Amino acid sequence: MAKRHRTDVLIIGSGAAGLATALHLAETTRVTVVSKDAIKGGATNWAQGGVAAVTNPDDSFESHIADTVAAGAGLCQEDVVRYTVTRAPNAIKHVVDLGLEFDRHDDGLHLTREGGHSRRRVLHVADATGAAIARTLNERAMQHPNIEIVSMRVAIDVITSRKLGQTPNRAVGAYVYNTRSDTVEVFEAPYVVLATGGASKVYVYTSNPEGATGDGIAMAWRAGCRVANMEFNQFHPTCLYHPRAARETGRGSFLISEAVRGEGGRLLLPDGSRFMDRFDPRAELASRDIVARAIDHEMKRLGAECVFLDISHQRSEFIEAHFPNILSRCLGVGIDMRREPIPVVPAAHYTCGGVVVDLASRADIPGLYAIGETAYTGLHGANRLASNSLLECLVFAEAAAQDIARRRVVEPQVPSAPPDWDESRVSDSDEQVVLAHNWTELRRFMWDYVGIVRTNKRLQRAQRRIDLLRQEIHDYYARHRLSADLIELRNLVHVAELIVRAAVMRKESRGLHYTLDYPRPVSRPSPSILYPAADPLDVLQPLAAPPRRARRNLANTAAS
Ligand code: FAD
Ligand code: SIN
Repeated sequence: MAKRHRTDVLIIGSGAAGLATALHLAETTRVTVVSKDAIKGGATNWAQGGVAAVTNPDDSFESHIADTVAAGAGLCQEDVVRYTVTRAPNAIKHVVDLGLEFDRHDDGLHLTREGGHSRRRVLHVADATGAAIARTLNERAMQHPNIEIVSMRVAIDVITSRKLGQTPNRAVGAYVYNTRSDTVEVFEAPYVVLATGGASKVYVYTSNPEGATGDGIAMAWRAGCRVANMEFNQFHPTCLYHPRAARETGRGSFLISEAVRGEGGRLLLPDGSRFMDRFDPRAELASRDIVARAIDHEMKRLGAECVFLDISHQRSEFIEAHFPNILSRCLGVGIDMRREPIPVVPAAHYTCGGVVVDLASRADIPGLYAIGETAYTGLHGANRLASNSLLECLVFAEAAAQDIARRRVVEPQVPSAPPDWDESRVSDSDEQVVLAHNWTELRRFMWDYVGIVRTNKRLQRAQRRIDLLRQEIHDYYARHRLSADLIELRNLVHVAELIVRAAVMRKESRGLHYTLDYPRPVSRPSPSILYPAADPLDVLQPLAAPPRRARRNLANTAAS
């Protein structure tokens, strides 16, 4: 019999969003956090530049709001921007109270600068801010008696009462795959929080760690929630270009923080000339969409494999103090950034779209929440301002926790008793190579056809390939015993489809979405909201159903 767990709140994901939510809730509530890998797995642990917040008397909320809205290229929801920016100092205070020590200088916090910010406002811990945040939240969460952390688990789908044939509809738990025991467990909970991070693994070149496969977005979509702005995948302009770098990190392309440009780093062409001032008066400190597109343009124009980021004019001691992590990583591949420029290329970095939520982080299904990179709050619009992501995680974690705590008191708790996962009629995977092949193919054509510059024809090509892959993966999923790779691949193909559908909907160029067929922005833009059909499970599975005998995994999914 499958293992069953019952908890007051199930949080899926142990990054900044998941753990901050858990810590806020744990004062009153029993919380279970499930996560894919050892607890430090998410993007949070890799964040470099820092957290944006107004903490200096020379700065103002109005300025942070204006910069966020300008970077968002006409698609930020201004009420959400104001909500987030004005709560930022409090969110910072919370992590500082938990023990986080941001870098200081002289009599105050040291603030760095990044693209799109009109002044210094980014709090940081050298160039490894995310690791410091992750460490602080992890330590506190592990010490808390009300928080249970269960790792080596991959959530498969959210269980809703509608799929159990019960009304009214709400989230009642999740099916979760245990990668150690190779079994599927049932987690029952009246509140489920999706904090699974972003989907940048849908691209072959990415700054993101393993696991950024858009699972929460795909799960929410399959459960019947709206998803928005998926065409706005952010490409970070500067990832280390070196064949050994990706291999040695054992993950994606190694990021060279925007703070390097914030502290005076210059972008150079292979002949040593600067070029960013031809694209934007802010030059290297233009917003990320502009810098990434300029680099892409220059690389294509010159047939260059990379451009260069040069901060060697700064004092060595300054570089050693501010960028110890980047310095050591570059030295590891034979590049001394104190003396020579760093070869860099853009790579997929951040998912600006996601599960549509309100100011309390509530998704469309009662009891279901989405926080952090999984969510679409309206903060980022068509392009996220640097260092606003960790901020969004922290602010919306508190909002969600407050909403859940309030609702737990007033909402009746009705047991739902979801059935065990039934895999009595599936067989062991016979051709694991199919998964590996599809994984590589999908990520490669997303890079080629749905990357920094798009066209109608490229999007159509991508859609045709997605149709084929979706059918193949769907069929495989229906017939075979689960694995973590299969769960992730199924999510990746769903997320790829959401990105392409949103990109096709947008008949203009704006922020991170640039298409040669519609190079100009329209005058009255709106977010691209994808609505699930009446039976959302069929939306991405419109092709021939597999034979009856092989439908067990689908039956489980239909129950979710
Ligand atoms: P994550 O931190 O990615 O955590 C996701 C969690 O969900 C992980 O624990 C993962 O194991 C788990 N998970 C995923 N799927 C499942 C599943 N199916 N079942 C169970 N668990 C699951 N932002 C900034 O604001 N400032 C920066 O300086 C900055 N630098 C960055 C540098 C890099 C290299 C990268 C990659 C990103 C950076 N970002 C930065 C973006 C920022 O780090 C992320 O957007 C943010 O940390 C996301 O936090 P999260 O909690 O939403 O997700
Ligand atoms: C960076 O340090 O360049 C990343 C910052 C971010 O993604 O916000």
